[in-house]
Amino acid sequence: MLNSNLEILSDYPFQRLRALLDSQPASHGLAPINLSVGEPQHPLPDIVPAALTRDLSALSRYPTANGSPAFRAACADWLKRRYALPDALLDPERQIVALNGTREGLYMLAQVVVPPQKNGQRPAVLMPNPFYQAYIGATAASGAEAVFVPASAENGFLPDFAGVAPEILARTALVYLCSPANPQGTVASLDYLTRLIELARHYDFVIAFDECYAEIYDAAPPPGGLEAAMALSGGRAGEAALNNVVVFHSLSKRSSAPGLRSGFCAGDARITQEFIKLRNYGCAGMMMPVVEASTALWREESHVAANRALYREKFDIAQSILGNRFGFYRPAGGFYLWLDVGDGEAAAVKLWREAGLRTLPGAYLVRDGGDAVSAAAGKPYLRVALVCELEQTREAMQRFSKVLGG
Ligand SMILES: Cc1ncc(COP(=O)(O)O)c(C=O)c1O
Repeated sequence: MLNSNLEILSDYPFQRLRALLDSQPASHGLAPINLSVGEPQHPLPDIVPAALTRDLSALSRYPTANGSPAFRAACADWLKRRYALPDALLDPERQIVALNGTREGLYMLAQVVVPPQKNGQRPAVLMPNPFYQAYIGATAASGAEAVFVPASAENGFLPDFAGVAPEILARTALVYLCSPANPQGTVASLDYLTRLIELARHYDFVIAFDECYAEIYDAAPPPGGLEAAMALSGGRAGEAALNNVVVFHSLSKRSSAPGLRSGFCAGDARITQEFIKLRNYGCAGMMMPVVEASTALWREESHVAANRALYREKFDIAQSILGNRFGFYRPAGGFYLWLDVGDGEAAAVKLWREAGLRTLPGAYLVRDGGDAVSAAAGKPYLRVALVCELEQTREAMQRFSKVLGG
């Protein structure tokens, strides 16, 4: 009766976290601070409420399936500005897909690009280990086999997809790459990205570049999948320039608006057109007030710069308090600390009981194949999301330092 492919979805990280912590006694009189969820708590940019409420009568009509022409143009223009892409590279009408948050897009893409069989075999979907949960959900629902590629300290926290066995690559339909990476904050170089696209074209698989942290960075803007595709085509914008490439972008982190549920994907027209077609059959369109607010946000940069500056300040605070303890490093992108605390689960319990801090054990983000490599990729770590305001972040880091010592 039930789809047995879904059996690999038995342990969602936040369910495990609730099971781990909610039976534990609360800390003594300290207000809890939640650092477990990647949900930005910075103030919503002022343009959001105004744009959301401008025409509420739109709610009396069904929204269109793929945003509005102005929304698609704003997304395409932003990509061109951000990654210095040629004008002709993206046709907003055919190559931008409006998404109610990138999670649903990352999830649904597998239904567009995973065939029933590849080279006569069960298709495979590759993802980094640790990974963002939508990737495994998508893989399970598509019927493909999930292949977890370690992204541990040993390989600089970047999955070595080229090192996967050729027999697996031959039946690979889709690869997920997250850069800047959740949870480690690693940024893949342009060279890494171009080599991955070459690999994808050689084996004819699709790459989903999950770039939802692209605007939260420390020193330099992270390169992206479209930029890498352009580097490979020598800057020429013919349609084949984006073959096998789809990039995902979100307003959740860039504009601190996770509740808006707004993102988009862009890339290879063969894929985006099929995706738009499929969405007509089964998806709720983006609400029109959300389309309006999103259009305004993609055209505005000052709130993004302010947001980024706030994250830098929080990393300054974390660095000054933690120093070089717990393997602290300043991530190149994203807003997580990925700390080596020896045993992430034990540390999460201690921090909750003694400091009221809610953090996520690294092991919950890793598929443990029972081998030393996958254990090393997650078990020693704790993911700490620096999503609170400055003073709460300082308070959290002080409690962390006091309780875990190190
Ligand atoms: C790696 C990664 N990808 C995608 C998402 C989804 O973001 P949204 O659906 O809010 O656009 C998240 C959210 O936490 C994430 O961490």
